[in-house]
Amino acid sequence: MRSILTRVFSSALVAIFATIAFMSAPALAQDEGAVARGGLLYDKWYAVIKAPKPEATHPAWPASNTKKKDATTWRCKSCHGWDYKGVEGAYGNSESYLTGIKGIDGMAGADVAAIVAILKDDTHQLADKMDEGDFNDLALFVSVGQIDMSQYIDTATKAFSGGNAAAGANYFNTLCAQCHGKDGNKPKDLPESFGSLMGGNPWEGMHKILNGQPNESMPALTALDIQITLDIMAHMATLPTEM
Ligand code: HEC
Ligand code: HEC
Repeated sequence: MRSILTRVFSSALVAIFATIAFMSAPALAQDEGAVARGGLLYDKWYAVIKAPKPEATHPAWPASNTKKKDATTWRCKSCHGWDYKGVEGAYGNSESYLTGIKGIDGMAGADVAAIVAILKDDTHQLADKMDEGDFNDLALFVSVGQIDMSQYIDTATKAFSGGNAAAGANYFNTLCAQCHGKDGNKPKDLPESFGSLMGGNPWEGMHKILNGQPNESMPALTALDIQITLDIMAHMATLPTEM
């Protein structure tokens, strides 16, 4: 009787210690540099790898969309969206980028090799255009780099939540203002001020803050707590909309 109790007790202890050891095991560190490079490739792969700009419109670009053609139609974001949700996201309401194509959000968490196989398929026509390192970084981004932006940005109204603008001002003025100016209207070839970018396309802003800007020495914040990006976005929304 006694020995049975002792055995039950000690096996319970073993189970408890095993659980504690499992819970306190450090999370597997992922290569955030590779993830962010994948995010840059998702933005404009041919600029990142300095490949010639594709000339013809992508064969998977639907004929129903005549607003966009040529190289732009080869950017992952053009078919799958800055919010990664394709037709279910912001591009479902867009005139210029309405394609009806689904997002990549269904592949979040998927096996990297399975994603690479999709990128090399006949639909994508990319097999001879990138090397294995590029495919790997892109697939890593698809698997672990995309975030569910609908948690923070309302797809219909573009309103975003969860950020503290006062904290964001301090981050922005120390991390971003040296290149972008305190008003967020530099460098001079910036396509639009940050105030209007955040009102018009907050998904693009968020993607670029997390992953950087192709071919520029801009940092990527993806390895930091997401709260920092949300705070910066809240501050950017308060900046002037004129250039
Ligand atoms: C011209 C449009 C177009 C471009 C550009 C494009 N894709 Fe796709 N992608 C598609 C289509 C079409 C599908 C198939 C959707 C389906 O199965 O209905 C697809 C499917 C996918 C899927 C699988 C999604 C799923 O859940 O089944 C992934 C992942 C993906 N693409 C990633 C990318 C990446 C990364 C890039 C950039 C290198 C890219 N795509 C560029 C059109 C495009
Ligand atoms: C080392 C300089 C540098 C730093 C630091 C930097 N950026 Fe940039 N960023 C750039 C350049 C250059 C561009 C491309 C501008 C262009 O297209 O003319 C850019 C582009 C952007 C864009 C895309 C704008 C658009 O409409 O296409 C966003 C958003 C952005 N930066 C946000 C930030 C934020 C937020 C920070 C701070 C966390 C930051 N950047 C820090 C250099 C920098």
